[in-house]
Amino acid sequence: MICLSLTAPTVAEAVEVAAANAELIGAVELRLDLLDGDLSAAVREFPRRCDRELSRRHGSALPRILTVRRATDGGEFSGSEAERLELLRTGIEAGYDYVDLEEDLHGSREGEALAKAAGATGTRVIRSYHDTEGVPAALPELVRRLSQREEEIPKLAVTPRGISDLRRLLSVAPKMRKSNGILVGMGTVGIPTRLLAPRIGSFLTFCSAGNKQAAPGHLDPETLVGLYRHDMLGATTRLFGVIGNPVMHSKSPHFHNRVFAERGLDALYVPFHVDDVDEFFKLAEELPIEGVSVTIPHKAAVISHLREVDESVTATGACNTVVRGAAGGWRGVNTDVSGFLTPLQAARSVKDAAVSVVGAGGAARAVVYALAGEAARICVLNRTAERARRLAEELSASHGFHNISSAALEPENEELLRRHSDIIVQTTSVGMAPHADEDPLHWYEFSGNELVYDIIYTPEITRLLARARKAGCKTVSGSEMFRGQADEQARLFCELVSSA
Ligand code: ATR
Repeated sequence: MICLSLTAPTVAEAVEVAAANAELIGAVELRLDLLDGDLSAAVREFPRRCDRELSRRHGSALPRILTVRRATDGGEFSGSEAERLELLRTGIEAGYDYVDLEEDLHGSREGEALAKAAGATGTRVIRSYHDTEGVPAALPELVRRLSQREEEIPKLAVTPRGISDLRRLLSVAPKMRKSNGILVGMGTVGIPTRLLAPRIGSFLTFCSAGNKQAAPGHLDPETLVGLYRHDMLGATTRLFGVIGNPVMHSKSPHFHNRVFAERGLDALYVPFHVDDVDEFFKLAEELPIEGVSVTIPHKAAVISHLREVDESVTATGACNTVVRGAAGGWRGVNTDVSGFLTPLQAARSVKDAAVSVVGAGGAARAVVYALAGEAARICVLNRTAERARRLAEELSASHGFHNISSAALEPENEELLRRHSDIIVQTTSVGMAPHADEDPLHWYEFSGNELVYDIIYTPEITRLLARARKAGCKTVSGSEMFRGQADEQARLFCELVSSA
């Protein structure tokens, strides 16, 4: 179930946000600590107004949670503890469906009085523990403490700092599920816990709408339902994802979740912010995850974990796709190779074409390997000429290619570039947002006969491509390469889901 945390400063605005999102959510949480003004009046006013407005616009009311979060737990309540407890008591009397009481209130005289009052009015207690800094060492013991009372809902909201923390947190998910509890990993590393709530059996997942997040890592209801298909997930949903650092900017979740949805597959694709590849592979076994896209900076580091390696990985020293192989181990493929070629070959023939590749990094290696295999004549031009030379020599030596030369990327080599200008491929980061006004070939004037391919996809049309188009050149954008490599990944992922 999705619970929308209301972060607006007034009851009227909070009710409006609840009503506007009512179709997507199953409950609302009033974060009283984020409201301005007379909190005692607001805590009484909210349930009535919220029920009335939701019934009018949505046809029925939604369960309401009352939370008054202290600063130590990530909230903004600035009054005294006695005032906070009084507000909670007022809320219980006002008929909230749930009230959030922190773990340290358990056993205290005031805390027990609140729990008793809740019992009398039928308000269920959410017994919560927050750690905004990390994940406590004694997690199983903490879960046991939170789950002591059957009538209460335990809630664990902690902050994994890396994949090893996330593993520890997910290891207590079965215990939390047993007591119908709520498990939350806050922050970027914890985002999978929010997306996987129905899969790991967390009673609900919190989200925010509007500009203010109620807690770090909150997504909005539209993203949870539309992109991550929260409503169709269950215990048997198959898991895929993308690993990177950073990763939240990745377009891959949009692409792959849409493919899964269109094909009616019970599978989900999740972003994992990975600081430690070894730990991620352990997590992948535990969850289990069946396939991942790999992005910067892990494309080389995943290779040592593979049991089967595709030729595209060996040749490029990079792997952007890992899937479970037939024998149970991991299999690696570099779909950047075919993803690069597919839109190019749709635009023109590559065989015998004279091609310049600008750049000599990891991306250039995949591009040169792909082109050399299609019998193009290639010149690698790079700011650091030595690196271009090494790339040309290494690929020639390892694959017996005779069609790769190299040079420095500089205006003096304009004539050389012109002689290799049937196709010009740009593989550096020059021109990528936020430096979209840069053009790595600003000194080169297009004749209009070149096909220009920039593998950057933000912006979709780089300055270089815009200039080439203006001169009458055919162009291929990085989005087309993205689409090509993602199509191939989707084929591998869907094959796995369909085969078992
Ligand atoms: P990737 O894996 O994305 O290719 P990389 O291996 O770091 O990343 O390679 C970056 C490429 O962009 C290199 O070819 C680099 O040139 P150098 O080898 O001379 O460093 C190129 N590059 C980066 N910034 C550049 C700039 N300002 N001008 C020209 N080339 C640049």
